[in-house]
Amino acid sequence: MHPQPVKTPMLPKDTFNGRTILVTGGATGLGYSMSKMLLELGATICLMSRKQEALDAAKNKLESETGGRVEVHTADVREVDEVTAAVEYFYEKTGGIDALINNAAGNFISPTEHLTPNGFDSIIDIVLKGSKNCTLILGNKWIREGSGMKVILNIVTTYASTGSAFVVPSAMAKAGVLAMTRSLAVEWAKYGIRQVAIAPGPFPTEGAWNRLFPGGLDKKLGVLDQIPLKRPGDHRELANLASYLLSDYAAYVNGEVITIDGGEWLKGAGEMNFLLQLSLEDWKAIAMKNKK
Ligand code: HXC
Ligand code: NAP
Repeated sequence: MHPQPVKTPMLPKDTFNGRTILVTGGATGLGYSMSKMLLELGATICLMSRKQEALDAAKNKLESETGGRVEVHTADVREVDEVTAAVEYFYEKTGGIDALINNAAGNFISPTEHLTPNGFDSIIDIVLKGSKNCTLILGNKWIREGSGMKVILNIVTTYASTGSAFVVPSAMAKAGVLAMTRSLAVEWAKYGIRQVAIAPGPFPTEGAWNRLFPGGLDKKLGVLDQIPLKRPGDHRELANLASYLLSDYAAYVNGEVITIDGGEWLKGAGEMNFLLQLSLEDWKAIAMKNKK
């Protein structure tokens, strides 16, 4: 029996009372799930992405599910002016922002040599420049305010460290975001701004699955069989980790990336992991031979 997900929030209900958290790309997928738990823990949430309709639907659903407060504003994270306008709007509505989750991303699978220059750049621009834009716009504001106790959580991937075939622009961009996390952890600590990151393995979302496993590729290739814990991640597990890292319970965690992937990337890495294919009978036969 493999460990199963616990879905209740692990932190006290008032953990984020009086705090406002901006979640980019938070109207869907993992951003939505993190927003929901943060609302359950008392936060006010600001959602920013490109589609007004998706933002409005998410606001209604989140507010009715949690009783919390959600503000929304459209912005393409690639556009400095749009992000600046959205941040100003959120400040006016809520009085300030205490934490940022750089969660918005773009991705699709492709042989690298088939990518057009614009296809390559669109991923780099959303993930790397988008995260940089949000970080600098809010970070500069926080530094000017001098208020301290701020947190930036970057959602990266395990291949930010390992690289990966067929998602090269995403791997390059996420690696850059991870480098930004570690660099600013040192540089901005003096302003009271912490930097943390999460590297998720597979957590089913419509956005990721449509683009990474089109036509049921995940089942065809047995993607989930590759995970030592034999299941995908549950959104609530990731939301609990994000809540912890954003909270004061993690006040001494700075510049760290935490992997949450059921052991997936290590399975691909270990020199002798292919021995998992051996049966108990095979192992008994090997032991007998070794004893001779
Ligand atoms: C090849 C593609 C393509 C594809 C788009 N393009 N999709 N090339 N294969 N599947 C090319 C287009 O032809 C175009 O190049 C360029 O990319 C820009 O396309 P647009 O549609 O104009 O871009 P835009 O509207 O900005 O949309 C960005 C997008 C789109 C990334 C292409 O998919 C998107 O909006 N994604 C957001 C959500 C998302 O991707 N979520 C998944 C995150 S999952 P040309 O040269 O023709 O102009 C994730 C998981 C990581 O990150 C790890 C999992 C384990
Ligand atoms: P998702 O639902 O597609 O989320 C991506 C979000 O980003 C969408 O809400 C999208 O909204 C927004 N977005 C995209 N381009 C944008 C832009 N230019 N400006 C502003 N917002 C933009 O996918 P997800 O699976 O939840 O992914 C969330 C995060 O987790 C991403 O950083 C992803 O790389 C990471 N991740 C996911 C997995 C997984 O298994 N799901 C694994 C590892 C890492 P609009 O289209 O409305 O703008």
